[in-house]
Parts: sequence; structure tokens; C-alpha cells
Amino acid sequence: MSDRPRKPGASTRAVHGGERDHRESSSVSTPIHQTSTFWFPDSAELREYAEGRLVRDEYGRYSNPTWRAAEAKLCELEGAEEAVLFASGMCAATTMFLALVPDGGHIVVTNECYRRTRQFIAEYLSKTGVQVSVIEPANTIALKDALRDDTALFFTESPTNPTLRVIDLPEAVRIAHERGARVVIDSTFASPVNHRPLDDGADLVIHSATKYLGGHNDLIAGVAAGPADVVAPIRKAVGVLGGILDAHAAWLLVRGMKTLALRMARHNENALEIARWLEERPEVRRVWYPGLESHPDYAVATRLLSGFGGVVTFELETDLDGAVRFTDACRLPYIAPSLGGVESLVEMPVLMSFWDQTEEDRRSWGITDSLIRLACGIEDTADLIADLDQALRAI
Ligand SMILES: Cc1ncc(COP(=O)(O)O)c(C=O)c1O
Repeated sequence: MSDRPRKPGASTRAVHGGERDHRESSSVSTPIHQTSTFWFPDSAELREYAEGRLVRDEYGRYSNPTWRAAEAKLCELEGAEEAVLFASGMCAATTMFLALVPDGGHIVVTNECYRRTRQFIAEYLSKTGVQVSVIEPANTIALKDALRDDTALFFTESPTNPTLRVIDLPEAVRIAHERGARVVIDSTFASPVNHRPLDDGADLVIHSATKYLGGHNDLIAGVAAGPADVVAPIRKAVGVLGGILDAHAAWLLVRGMKTLALRMARHNENALEIARWLEERPEVRRVWYPGLESHPDYAVATRLLSGFGGVVTFELETDLDGAVRFTDACRLPYIAPSLGGVESLVEMPVLMSFWDQTEEDRRSWGITDSLIRLACGIEDTADLIADLDQALRAI
């Protein structure tokens, strides 16, 4: 065995990251600091704090020790210098855009982004005069063409929803940095176990922590992580905009993240096996999963990701009614939006996440009437497959 100090693995970092910073008790579990404000013993300490000579907590919209444990754990997991928590994944995205994009600036985004992120850009960010170029996901040639001298950032999810496109991040970073634009990745569908975008050169990574990071379908939260100089204006903005995470939810997030690596192994295993199984079924027209050779980004995904995630999207060889019969027949997965929790969830994008789009727009995103998005939980693979088998027969 080598004498070099071992770099801790993902599970060790997930369990211990940020956990031993509290000094006031000997509890192994990080305490929940359920307080709105923090007291000063006297005005001298207040002055020391105000003059920047003392770092401590002041008011619950700016910092909280329970957040710090979650943020430090995230830094360990993402390989980031700084991390900041938000009330939701949407709040992470909106605060990030407002903090990093100047009035009238330009951004490039991919068209297969979470619909509320697209809605924020179109209806709210546009009020600050920001101009937007939209490109297809994973199309780095289109990225090169869309970048301008005043482009503040390129924003994309990877893998995307629902067709799980995987961007060649090192290549996108090279292209964007050449033009002085930052690269921000919504890595919700990967989790820091399957991909660490900062290691591939991204300037910032954000997550809906509601999904894999929390992992139990029991909280709504968001995070952003990256170098201190990129995170600082975002932290300042959330203190003003106020979309902060409640201490109890932060504690649930800390607890959830401890088992992230274990859970991801099962999510990855379940989804890959199910994707392969679905591909052999006559009731299934097409399967989208980046771990399948048939996926357009299989080569990029195998190069960049250490697991392909828990979401499998597939199109049934049937119509809307047949797809409804399949969905309603599923007994283990709940019919519900979201992903990344221990319980499997199933949804028809045409009836759920894309119901308010025109048919033409849905078609342009490949959202057909019989498309199904299955977010595999951590149940036993054989039980999920047996359930899907009986649901396919119900079509
Ligand atoms: C990729 C992605 N980013 C962001 C969000 C928004 O996160 P939240 O629901 O935590 O606000 C979602 C929600 O589904 C998502 O799927």
C-alpha cells in the first residue's frame, strides 16, 4: 500500500463532510439551529462583527450554522470552494441569473431546460433587458455560433429532461471561455456522484437539491457551488432576495446527503437494467437513456459520467389512452412529478410537465403522447421490472 494520504471516497465525503464544525455540543448529528436571529453578548462584539474583524452569525437570512454543514458537505461532494443554499432549485437558478448576468447582457441557454427556468428567463429576466440565444442541447457547434463578445454565461442542464442529452462539458467550457463567457451547469439529473462539472471546468454548478441530494421526496431546496469569487455575488443576492432555506429543511438535506453515494449506486443500477429490459420489449418504441448505446450521447456520457442516473424516458408503441393505461397500472412507482427520491415516480410529460405547451412546441421537444418518464427509486430491481411487466401488459 502507498504511504500517500488517501483521498476520501464519495461515501466518506458524503457522511463526514461539514459535520464536525459545531463546537457547542458533542452531538454526532449536526444540530438544527431553529432560530431567526443570533444574539451578541455586548456592543463591543457587535462592533467587531460590523467592522469585519469577527466572522459569526447575525441574522437568519444571511447565515445559519445548520446551512453551513450542508454547504460544507456540498463543497466536499462537488469539489467546490464555496456553496450556498436556497429555498428551492428554482430559487438557485433565478438568484444565479440575477446575480451573474448584467442588465442588458447576453446569455446562451439550451432549449431542453426545466420549463420554469425557461419561463423565468422569458418572462422575468427579460425585464432587465437580458438577451437570450437558445440552442439545442449537446450542440457545441451551435454554442460557438451563438456566443457573442458580451455573452455573460452559457447555461444548460446535463443530462437534460426528458431525453437525457449529455453535453460535452470540457468542449463547451473551452468554447465558452475562449469568448469570455462563464459556464453554469444545472447538474440535478447527474448528482455529484455521477458527475462533478467543476472538475470539467464549469464555473458554477447548481442543483435542485429536492431531487438526489435530499433524496427522500420530503424537502424542497436548491444549491449553487463553485469558486468563492463566483459564489460571493450569489450569496449576497440571496440575502437580499430572501429565498433562503429553513433550518429544518437544511438539516433534512444534511441527513439525506449522507447516503447519496449509496443511493446513487442503486438508482444507476436500477435505471440501467430497466432501460436495457425496456429496449427488448415489443410494447416499447424507443428508450432514452445515456447508458444505452442507442442514445445519441452514449460516447460522451461514458467518457464524462460515472453513472447514468435514475431517470429512464421511453416511448410506448401506443397512443395517449394506451400510455394512460400503462401509467395507471403501475403499482410501485407513484404517479408524480420529480425524481431522485427513494420512491420510484412515473409521469407522462404530455399530461404533466408539458401539458401547457402547444402541440407544435411539444413535437419540437420530442414530447409525444406515449412518452413516459420513469424516475427509478431504490426499490429492488426485480420488483420494479415485475411491476413494469404487468403494466406493459395492461396497455
Ligand atoms: C433539472 C431541474 N432543475 C431545477 C428544477 C427546479 O427545482 P425545484 O423544484 O427544487 O425548485 C427542477 C425541478 O423539477 C429540475 O428538474
